[in-house]
Amino acid sequence: MSMEKKKDIVMSGIRPTGFLHLGNYFGAVRNYVRMQDSYTCYFMVADLHALTTLNETRELKGHVRRVMAENIACGLDPDKVAFYCQSHVPETAELYLLLNMLAYVGELEKTPTFKDKVRLQPQNVNAGLLTYPVLMAADILLHRATLVPVGKDQGQHLEIARDFASRFNGRYGEVFPEPYAFNFGEALAKVPSLDGAGKMSKSENQMATIYLADTDEAIRKKVAKAKTDSGGDPGSPMPESVANLFQLLQLVSGEDVVQKFTADYAAGTIRYGDMKKELAEGMVGFIGPIREKAEAIQNDDAYLRRVMEQGAEKARASAKVTIQLSKDAIGLSYI
Ligand code: TRP
Repeated sequence: MSMEKKKDIVMSGIRPTGFLHLGNYFGAVRNYVRMQDSYTCYFMVADLHALTTLNETRELKGHVRRVMAENIACGLDPDKVAFYCQSHVPETAELYLLLNMLAYVGELEKTPTFKDKVRLQPQNVNAGLLTYPVLMAADILLHRATLVPVGKDQGQHLEIARDFASRFNGRYGEVFPEPYAFNFGEALAKVPSLDGAGKMSKSENQMATIYLADTDEAIRKKVAKAKTDSGGDPGSPMPESVANLFQLLQLVSGEDVVQKFTADYAAGTIRYGDMKKELAEGMVGFIGPIREKAEAIQNDDAYLRRVMEQGAEKARASAKVTIQLSKDAIGLSYI
């Protein structure tokens, strides 16, 4: 018998929104990759969640394939983790149904993300939108995961998942451990946008966000246009736009490069043009190989099919056990 300690279970979902950017990489994907050796990991592409906001699904297939390809190109290894599509694991829907019996309409209506969506799409306030957190709880509880790498924006959803876990246990019997937000290692790197304020984000200024799919030329152009200060006296506090460029340099360039420009800045001799060139080349060197690998994967139908089938198989093996435990606890077992 193996004496190895059972690994803790990690679960997270990735929205298939198309293109990943540097913020996604340093804020999420890099951490998934670091977790894959130490934990039993389930990473899932949330295609069913996407249906809560999509009116038309023509682009869904491309987005799902792209997000899978990009995550794999970043180092996520489908042989080490279960990497699957939500809709390939029907047990998700089954647990979602069971959890819906524990979910109060009042608490779902109070969820801030739901209220935001009502404001954003008043013409399409569907029940799936209301029960979005129930589906997310089903994703997590399906594997009886305890560790959920997510950003702060998902904190409320995670709290709901915890509530459902304890509500289920209290009503029917102990099945689910409580899941908590989890970061691997040090605090997540912040990835500032190129326009001087805020973080890189998909929805904001496209020119201020570097995507993993950007060509070398696009990267160079965006970095060249990045905001810097207009001069500034030596000794005055560093403007946010410049501090942001240093933070980005730190992520993609060597320590020697960072030190050189830090010293130049302190001496008042910094040439932002030179700094941006270094930054652009650092990004090109970092993103180029990922972009090419992701493209190759996306074009390899047979490989992607294998990945999806293998991921679904692993996820369903874990899910079936949980569904059986849940049904037994509820008393849905008659023969
Ligand atoms: N709601 C998450 C987001 O918007 C995606 C998601 C779906 C998820 N299911 C999940 C995250 C399960 C963590 C665990 O980013």
